[in-house]
Amino acid sequence: VIVDDNPRSLELLSSALKIEGLRIFTAEDPEEGLALIRQHHPQVVLTDLVMPKLTGMDVLQQTLEFDPTVDVILMTAHYSTESAVEAIRHGASDYVNKPVSISALRAKVSQLLDHHRRRLGLDIPGNDFEEFEGMVGQSPAMREMGLYIRRIAPHYRAVLVTGPTGTGKDLVARALHRLSPVSRTGRLVVLNCSAVVETLFESELFGHVKGSFTGATQDKPGLFEHADGGTLFLDEIGDMPMSTQAKLLRALQNQEILRVGSLTPRKVSVRVIAATHRDLQQSILDKTFREDLYYRLSMVEIRVPRLSERVEDLPLLIRTFLKKFSGQFGKRVTGLTRKAELALESHLWPGNVRELENAIGQACMMAVTDKIDISDLPEYLRGAPARAAAVTTSNGAVTLEEQEKHLILKALEQSNGNQSQAARILNVGRDALRYKMKKHGIQ
Ligand SMILES: Nc1ncnc2c1ncn2[C@@H]1O[C@H](COP(=O)(O)OP(=O)(O)OP(=O)(O)O)[C@@H](O)[C@H]1O
Ligand SMILES: [Mg+2]
Repeated sequence: VIVDDNPRSLELLSSALKIEGLRIFTAEDPEEGLALIRQHHPQVVLTDLVMPKLTGMDVLQQTLEFDPTVDVILMTAHYSTESAVEAIRHGASDYVNKPVSISALRAKVSQLLDHHRRRLGLDIPGNDFEEFEGMVGQSPAMREMGLYIRRIAPHYRAVLVTGPTGTGKDLVARALHRLSPVSRTGRLVVLNCSAVVETLFESELFGHVKGSFTGATQDKPGLFEHADGGTLFLDEIGDMPMSTQAKLLRALQNQEILRVGSLTPRKVSVRVIAATHRDLQQSILDKTFREDLYYRLSMVEIRVPRLSERVEDLPLLIRTFLKKFSGQFGKRVTGLTRKAELALESHLWPGNVRELENAIGQACMMAVTDKIDISDLPEYLRGAPARAAAVTTSNGAVTLEEQEKHLILKALEQSNGNQSQAARILNVGRDALRYKMKKHGIQ
């Protein structure tokens, strides 16, 4: 169904979309358009944004109320990032600029129709493998996230990616950049905010001019300028000092920056992706994060679900990591014993995908047959789930100490207690091994 108050435009669009097997209904009046939508139940709706009586946003809303699976594309001659983001947040599949490029629109509609066809086929057994920009998953939560990333990527100016540690925020940020048009005009510049000295933060982001502070021996551009035309990924944004946050907000609002010590603003065109494992609402209460910056960033928020909220993905992720590590270690490990599988299924995965990846990596290293057995798993995974909590730190990571002890025990087991051999397996010297054994109280 195509809705547009301009008859010329309607004519043009419907002739452009003469795709094999596609039925088109048109309406100049949005009310009439909605009636057509209810009557014919289309897969795709194209609607103009500014029309008398009802706006395209109204059409969007009422269409999705009728059927949330319909793909609605909004068209407008008044494109702005803000309105595009707004439409997509309200469920639009896309937002296109008028005059519409016929070939681009045809491609989009074909893609959406294809997607509908595939969506119908998703329950076919065996058709369960899903990979999206390096992210593996098949759970509804991950599919929904993938779809949202694909929709928002062309339009956003700032995005906040949240979720507990190890859930894949880094992968999400990279996908957002790759799927946005700026991946063709600029690069992805990454800054881990937790690794920057507070006093150098501003200069790192915005650059400085010669003599602006001790050590500033020459003019230096900052990361905003490096990312011009591309994307700046601010990882661990929750660790950015308050004073820098204020300057970041100004840069986002004005799309211009000031090098430290300079009074001349420079225009930059940069998309910003911010990520954090922290609860920023709590940080606001704790007065470590600015509320205004939070609202600016969270206009578009992508929440990456914890692994325990998408256990459907476990088998797929395990298979993926088995393949990765067996290749890496030159082993043929193809599966798990039932016991090992049960142990993985009953664990809560506080360290999320990263913890799973590490566990499979270790187990692959240890495996002596083509199947990972329970004894190949890190010790903390072998027992009852309650025990698991005891050896994980507050942020959910498995302690390094624990992993080390496990590896040493396993190597000694393999070498029947022969320390020289165990040291070779672990690729450390004998003295180093003895020292570590003593440290862990291993006899
Ligand atoms: N869906 C996924 N499919 C495959 N690998 C994944 C997936 N999600 C995460 N990973 C892997 O898990 C590890 C952790 O992911 P990532 O670094 O993106 O986490 P994060 O959310 O940024 O964590 P942190 O908050 O600790 O920085 C990486 O090695 C990543 O490749
Ligand atoms: Mg990360």
